[in-house]
Amino acid sequence: AKKINIAIDGFSSCGKSTMAKDLARKLGYTYIDSGAMYRAVALYAIRKGWITETTMDEEALREHVSEIKITFAPNAQGSQDTYLNGENVEDDIRTLEVANGASRVSTLGFVRKELVRQQQEMGKEKGVVMDGRDIGTVVLPDAELKLFVTAPPEIRAQRRFDEMKAKGINPPAYEDILANVKERDLRDTTRAESPLRKADDAIELDNTHVDIEGQLQWALDMFNRIT
Ligand code: C5P
Repeated sequence: AKKINIAIDGFSSCGKSTMAKDLARKLGYTYIDSGAMYRAVALYAIRKGWITETTMDEEALREHVSEIKITFAPNAQGSQDTYLNGENVEDDIRTLEVANGASRVSTLGFVRKELVRQQQEMGKEKGVVMDGRDIGTVVLPDAELKLFVTAPPEIRAQRRFDEMKAKGINPPAYEDILANVKERDLRDTTRAESPLRKADDAIELDNTHVDIEGQLQWALDMFNRIT
């Protein structure tokens, strides 16, 4: 069958990357985690000292953004690992510190411009499932299938809490995770550059009462409807 592009957008920790990964595996498509790219930029900046808890050196970032090369390569789990200038940073980019940094660097127009260019390049051959905040609206506006995943912040914070526990990471207090989720929601939806928004032609799923199997089935149903 002819391959299409699939855009999956939504708030942080809503399960969209799980949906995107599962769908890509099922269809034999390439999964692209656009958030990982913003995280990799943030990690680079944190290591250089350009981002601290309270400051961001925009000028340094602007000057050096072209030095940051982000690539993906398959791992043993059948998913993709993220590489920053050739170094596997898949684990390093998953911390709360990097998530917050990513949320901040993603407000910068010149960072978005560079990453969107790379993401569009990756989507050129079709057959990708890409997840993020602006995939259906900005990166792949011509994607044949656009999905938008939501759930209330309390549900997403609880899932994040449970996930950390399951991974053996000692989680912060639930209230702190919830505050962090809300802070990122606010920044994602109110930033001037490509705010998180459901594309007019996207199909929405509130997955509060839907499990991982159920949301994959829903996505497959939407795929089968149009192909
Ligand atoms: O999805 P994830 O939590 O990994 O994304 C990290 C950060 O990158 C988010 O807080 C979001 O602000 C930003 N992001 C973005 N555009 C995307 C993907 C992620 O602005 N397409």
